[in-house]
Amino acid sequence: MKVCVIGTGYVGLVTGVCLANIGHNVICIDNNEEKIKLMKSGQSPIYEPGLSELMQSCITNKNLLFSSDLKLGVEHGEILFIAVGTPALPNGESDTRYVEAVAKGIGENLNQGYKVIVNKSTVPIGSGDWVKMIVLDGVKEREKLLGNNQKIEVDFDVVSNPEFLREGSAIYDTFNPDRIVLGSESNQAINLMKKLYEPIILRQFAEEKNGDSIPVVVTDLTSAEMIKYAANSFLATKISFINEIANICDKVGADVTQVAQGIGLDSRIGTKFLQAGIGWGGSCFPKDVSALIHIADDYNYEVDLLKSVVKLNQHQRLIVIEKLQNKLKILKGKIIGLLGLTFKPDTDDMRDAPSLDIIKELTRLGAKVKAYDPIVSQTGISHGLSDVIIETNIMMLADSCDALVLVTEWQEFLKLDYQKMLEKMNNNIIVDGRNFLDKKLLKLAGFNYVGIGH
Ligand code: NAD
Ligand code: UGA
Repeated sequence: MKVCVIGTGYVGLVTGVCLANIGHNVICIDNNEEKIKLMKSGQSPIYEPGLSELMQSCITNKNLLFSSDLKLGVEHGEILFIAVGTPALPNGESDTRYVEAVAKGIGENLNQGYKVIVNKSTVPIGSGDWVKMIVLDGVKEREKLLGNNQKIEVDFDVVSNPEFLREGSAIYDTFNPDRIVLGSESNQAINLMKKLYEPIILRQFAEEKNGDSIPVVVTDLTSAEMIKYAANSFLATKISFINEIANICDKVGADVTQVAQGIGLDSRIGTKFLQAGIGWGGSCFPKDVSALIHIADDYNYEVDLLKSVVKLNQHQRLIVIEKLQNKLKILKGKIIGLLGLTFKPDTDDMRDAPSLDIIKELTRLGAKVKAYDPIVSQTGISHGLSDVIIETNIMMLADSCDALVLVTEWQEFLKLDYQKMLEKMNNNIIVDGRNFLDKKLLKLAGFNYVGIGH
C-alpha cells in the first residue's frame, strides 16, 4: 500500500521504516530540511537501536523515501499518518499547533481518491473531528483560490491509531505490539488500516510466532483517543505507586524489590512497571498525564488521583538529594557525579528527564555536578544541560567525586571497574536511583551503597 508519514521523530520515523520493511511503499515527510538531508543519506537523526540498519535496507529496496514536500507525500499516500509532536504548553494543555499545520497542509494538497488520515500523534480527546474540520478548511482555501465557486471533490476519513511504542525498544514494540487500537466511525477506513497492518497482526515479523494474531481493538474515535491517555496515565500511576511503597519501605526497613516481586506475581497486578526509582520522565508520561488533567479540568472534574501522581513524581525525582544530604550533610562545595542523563537507557531523548531536575537542585544547593552518559557524552547533546560538566570517560567522572548517583540504568554501568573508580573519589557514597547496580559487589568494592526503598 502507498503510505505517507508526516513527522519523522521517534514515532514517525519508526512507523515509516517499519511499514516500509513489511512491504509498503512509504514516503516520510518532515519540515526540518536538515533531518531530511540526513535521512536521505541513510542516517537516522535519533538514536534508536536497530533503526539505522532497517532504514538503510528499506532505502536500498527503494520503498522508503524522504522529502520535505508535503504535496508529494499527500498525493502519494492512500494512508496519511500525522506523527508530529504534541508537547505540553506551560498550563499542561497539549500544544496541537503542529497537528493543525499538518492537517491544514493535507487539506490544501488533497488529491482525488479515497484516503485515510491517521492521527498517530497523541492528541486531546475530540481531535479526530477537529482534524477533519481543519482538513476541510484547507480544501476550502484551495477552492477560494480557484474562484468561480469551483468545488474540489475530496473523499477521506479520519482514524485514531494511538502509538504504544517505547523509546529504546521501538522497533521490537512495533513488530510485537500487545494490541492495535483503531478508532473511527468508518468501516472502509478500519478495513484499510487492518490491511495495512496485516503482516504485523498475523505476527509475520514478530519474535514469537505462537499462532495467535495480535488483538485489534476497534472503537469510536473518542474512545481510541482516551485509550492512549488512559494507558500512559495508568502506567505512570503504577510507577508512582511502587515509588510510594519504596519510600515507606525505606522508613520501615523492607526491601521494595522483594515487595514488587511479591505483589507482581499476582496476575491481577503483573510484574512490569514496578521498578522503583527516581520517577518517570520522558517525552510522553509527563505531558500526557498533564494533558488528561487539563481535559478533565475543562469539564470541571477534579482528577485528584492523577494530580497526586504528578506531585509524587516531582518529589521522587529529588529523593536522591535527600539521600545525599543524609550521607554528606552539606552539599555546598561537594562534587557529585551522575551516571546517566537520558530519561531512560537506549535513547538519546533528554525531554523531561529526571536528571534535569536533579542537576538543577544540586546546583541550587551549591554542589558541582559532573555526568557521564553513554550517548550524551558521545554526541555532545547540550539541551538543558548548562549546569553540568559532561565527562567523556568514566574515570574522569569518578575523579574527586564525593558521591556518585546512578540516574539512568544503562547496561554498561553494570560492568564498570568500581574499585578503580573508588580510588579516584573523595568519598565512597553511591546512590542507586534505579535499584539497578549489584549492591553486594559495590559493598565489597568499598562503597557505601544507598538504594531506593532498600
Ligand atoms: P518528535 O518531536 O520526535 O518528532 C516530531 C517531528 O515532526 C519532528 O521531526 C518535526 O520536525 C516534525 N514536524 C513538526 N511540524 C511539522 C510539519 N508541519 N510538517 C512536517 N513535519 C513536522 O515527536 P515524537 O516523540 O515522535 O512524538 C510524536 C507524537 O507521537 C507525539 O504526539 C507523541 O506524544 C506521540 N508518541 C510518542 C512516543 C515516543 O516514544 N516518543 C510514543 C507514543 C506516542
Ligand atoms: C512510554 C510508554 O511505555 C509507551 O507505551 C508509550 O507509547 C510512550 O510512553 C509514549 O506515549 O510516548 P517511554 O516513555 O518510551 O514509553 O518509556 P517507558 O519505558 O514507559 O519509561 C517511561 C519512564 O518511566 C522512564 O523515565 C522510566 O525510567 C520510568 N519507569 C519505567 C520507571 O521508573 N519504572 C518502571 O518500572 C518503568
